[in-house]
Amino acid sequence: MKHLLPPLPYEIDALEPFLSTETLECHYNKHHKGYIQKLNELVAGTRHEGMTLQELVVHAPEGPVYNNAAQAWNHEFYWHSLNPDGSDTPDAAIGKAIRQSFGTVDEFRQAFEKVCLAMFGSGWVWLVKNADGGIGIRALGNAGNPLRDGQHPLLACDLWEHAYYIDYRNQRAKYLQAFWELVNWEFVAENWSRQTPFTQEARQGMRPVRTLPPRNGLHPGIVHR
Ligand SMILES: [Fe+2]
Repeated sequence: MKHLLPPLPYEIDALEPFLSTETLECHYNKHHKGYIQKLNELVAGTRHEGMTLQELVVHAPEGPVYNNAAQAWNHEFYWHSLNPDGSDTPDAAIGKAIRQSFGTVDEFRQAFEKVCLAMFGSGWVWLVKNADGGIGIRALGNAGNPLRDGQHPLLACDLWEHAYYIDYRNQRAKYLQAFWELVNWEFVAENWSRQTPFTQEARQGMRPVRTLPPRNGLHPGIVHR
């Protein structure tokens, strides 16, 4: 099975000004693409060749195949976790689950940010649905993916420096401010209501993200404060 670079769910400049076109050119066209190219090289002619990306993420032993498969899966999920035109707040069902576990949506954001800021080195912070149906925050280094522990990803924040260094240098907190502006709560809600984890097949059935043309050089979703 040849793994393909999935399309971005929006134009490459759609996340401006929070994440620049230059960042997405580098992050999507170089890093994400690179993981897929490397994965195809690694699995060619091996027992892993016929496995789907998700099967590799769950079952491949720790090592280069897992690392590149998980990074490919994680990046596709991350792109869908962002949306330039989405709502600012979680919908009723996921909002209720967040309030039950964290108190308020603001308290959830603070808890999520605290985990993001505390992560040493590269990795991912996830909002997950646990096997018991509860909700939680997971920090996983490098290519970590919660599917391996039976948790369903709901939202992903990429904390590799390539995600934000062009725009924010070493200021991870500023990147997180941008991240909250872009979170795709509709995607989080879809993942919360889904009985099985997000897959490439599920992605193909998803509604495309609607993108509007920029106005006065700024995205129309931006509110001036
Ligand atoms: Fe990344």
